[in-house]
Amino acid sequence: MNKEAAIITVDHLSKAFGSNVVLTDFSMELNPGENLVILGKSGSGKSVLIKCIINLIAPDQGKIRVLGKDISELDQEEMDKLRADIGFLFQSNALYDSMTVRQNLEFPLRRHWTEEEREKNAKNAVTEALEDVGLAHTLNMMPSELSGGMRKRVALARTLILKPKVILYDEPTTGLDPITAREISNLIVKIQKKYQTASIIISHDMNCIRITSNRVIMLIEGKNYASDTLENLKQNPDPKIREFFD
Ligand SMILES: Nc1ncnc2c1ncn2[C@@H]1O[C@H](COP(=O)(O)OP(=O)(O)O)[C@@H](O)[C@H]1O
Ligand SMILES: [Mg+2]
Repeated sequence: MNKEAAIITVDHLSKAFGSNVVLTDFSMELNPGENLVILGKSGSGKSVLIKCIINLIAPDQGKIRVLGKDISELDQEEMDKLRADIGFLFQSNALYDSMTVRQNLEFPLRRHWTEEEREKNAKNAVTEALEDVGLAHTLNMMPSELSGGMRKRVALARTLILKPKVILYDEPTTGLDPITAREISNLIVKIQKKYQTASIIISHDMNCIRITSNRVIMLIEGKNYASDTLENLKQNPDPKIREFFD
């Protein structure tokens, strides 16, 4: 895959917080249509990496291109526009507790659609996004009335509503019971197939990785330590990789 065609390119990224060196010379590419898992220990810099990709954290060094654009060169308006193409599922879901499911889903539209577009299309967009995650019946419910797995689905629906070209999932199954975790993993694959999105999935849930990943990058000591299919990584004799599978 040449770099020009990549959905996301991270080149020689470094980031430290004071003396805490998190990422050192980390490089990767996300290819079109691919579900790429980033696997690393807790505290290894996985969330920092995706926050750099969506420009919430400024790198110390390195270049990040998203959908052909060098994000360090974008002004606020251009970055806003690009963000509409990037879905981000937070580990915490980040739903608004005082809003209904419907209001939560409509929220991103306020920023990215005109009033006219919203009046015309918001209802259909909300319905479709909720149907995609199997939760059409929760339209008028409050987040507090939903289970953890349902809240995760609503957060995913809110991500889908702008029809993103790329989706970043930060530990989508952490804190969920195994059956719900499997449902969310299957949903990630369903979304990939239906919308042909490319995704980065941060996870250390082996079942989730097995179900969702086309390729896995091991984030070890701040670097892209290995990039391969899950099956090949499982065969890799390197002790630092073995630690994750033994
Ligand atoms: N905004 C921040 N300010 C200072 N340190 C941070 C910040 N965000 C993350 N860190 C530190 O960076 C390291 C990696 O964090 P993170 O990317 O959240 O890990 P994880 O791989 O578990 O997602 C941790 O040591 C964390 O304390
Ligand atoms: Mg994290």
